[in-house]
Amino acid sequence: MTKKTSLPKIGLLYLDYVLRFFDKSNFKGWPDKIEQVTYHWGNDKARFIAEVKRKKIDVLIGNIPATAYETFRDIARALPEVRFLPSLDSQFSNKSKENVTHFCRKYDLPIPHTEIFYIPEKAQSYLASATYPKIIKRSYGPSNYGGYFVHKVDSYEEAQSLLSEKRYYPVYVQDFVPMEADIRVMLIGHKPVCAFWRRPPEGEWLTNTSQGGSMDYQGIPKSVLDLATKTSKAANAEYWACDIALGKDGKLRILECATAFAAFPYIRDWIGQYLMWLLGEGRFHKPNIPIYNWEELGKIDARFLRTMRHIGFSTYTPSQDCGELFTDMTEQRYPIFDTQYRAGEEWPSEIWNLQDNFKLPAKVVPASAMQPVPGSDEVMSETDLPNVAFDESQIRAMLGEVKGVGDKMIDDILATFGATGVVEALNTEPEQLCVVKNLKAKKLEKIVDHWHAFTKA
Ligand SMILES: Nc1ncnc2c1ncn2[C@@H]1O[C@H](COP(=O)(O)OP(=O)(O)O)[C@@H](O)[C@H]1O
Ligand SMILES: [Mg+2]
Repeated sequence: MTKKTSLPKIGLLYLDYVLRFFDKSNFKGWPDKIEQVTYHWGNDKARFIAEVKRKKIDVLIGNIPATAYETFRDIARALPEVRFLPSLDSQFSNKSKENVTHFCRKYDLPIPHTEIFYIPEKAQSYLASATYPKIIKRSYGPSNYGGYFVHKVDSYEEAQSLLSEKRYYPVYVQDFVPMEADIRVMLIGHKPVCAFWRRPPEGEWLTNTSQGGSMDYQGIPKSVLDLATKTSKAANAEYWACDIALGKDGKLRILECATAFAAFPYIRDWIGQYLMWLLGEGRFHKPNIPIYNWEELGKIDARFLRTMRHIGFSTYTPSQDCGELFTDMTEQRYPIFDTQYRAGEEWPSEIWNLQDNFKLPAKVVPASAMQPVPGSDEVMSETDLPNVAFDESQIRAMLGEVKGVGDKMIDDILATFGATGVVEALNTEPEQLCVVKNLKAKKLEKIVDHWHAFTKA
């Protein structure tokens, strides 16, 4: 018997407290053992690297949350033989909105006019003479908090008061784009596999469905699918999602793009199949995913879609009864492409980690707060997945253990931020919590210390 060529050893990359996008079951039919490696928050690089080596993993599959991105750039350098999939370069846009902007600028992809300031005085002078309305967003950290960190300001005064309250850094300012709707497109191998409209509620501007926006799957313009495909190709991403705004001026602009997004399990199965084909040395079939399948699948109640697995399609075989052959009926030039492994780094951190490279000496951030601690951005969802990183009762209990933090304050904190908002603030800008009455620097320090002990436990 001849031995078949051996397959690369797959490992799934997990992080404590972060929702898992992939599960072994997404790789149905993969004959070999699929390993798992979990990153523990804190100082876990060396142990993680050793575990990957010990398990002889060739391909490490999974999304890296924003708060761990730079750590994983280091880890990837220490593991040059391991293929991260998606690559750290493809995941560059996951880290921050700022990175999305750099990525789109480099590839000449349309975005709202954006200014990013690391020097607060420059932001002030820009905002003093800018035209309004503008949108100010927090650049870094978990995305898709339903617009919680996205603000419309109508004047310089509003911008100033917002920034003095939120202290976002860098200051990320966009022109406000009046839009009809925005459209989420998900792609596998640069082929759109799911897309839906998100429309703002009557008279509102935020389209996030968690803010009352509505969604539907019908009639996504081809121009939108084409732009999403172009973006996915530019990122060399095996799987990808784009949020594209359709302006009232008729123009398309990219609002967000990343490899980290929420997707129904059957979409994750498709990604698994695609990756098996990509890595499988000719042993697996490329999945056949008809374009516009979402118009039909989208008619199914989301509660069912959430449970449906391994949805498959065969290729269309025309029947010959009338002798007519229809070709090119459905695919309309949207093939699934393979993605090529690229050695080298497109976005090295020495240059592109502006956030840490360009820290203002005046900005006091407790060292402990800069450590990567769990973010929950991987698959935050407005559509199908709950944010389960920590629920309200866990946050309540955690806060309750801090000396000097009483029930009243806990109520205030949760009323202001919600459980996810608290986690988020603790992981990125803990100072935000000081908007809560009587919560001053001293108490904040205790909370942050306790949080770190809590998440490392
Ligand atoms: N420049 C802009 N002009 C108008 N609306 C915007 C702009 N940027 C974002 N929005 C609205 O705010 C929503 C949230 O912004 P987004 O950048 O997607 O942040 P989040 O991480 O909160 O999803 C968008 O879906 C869109 O409805
Ligand atoms: Mg968004």
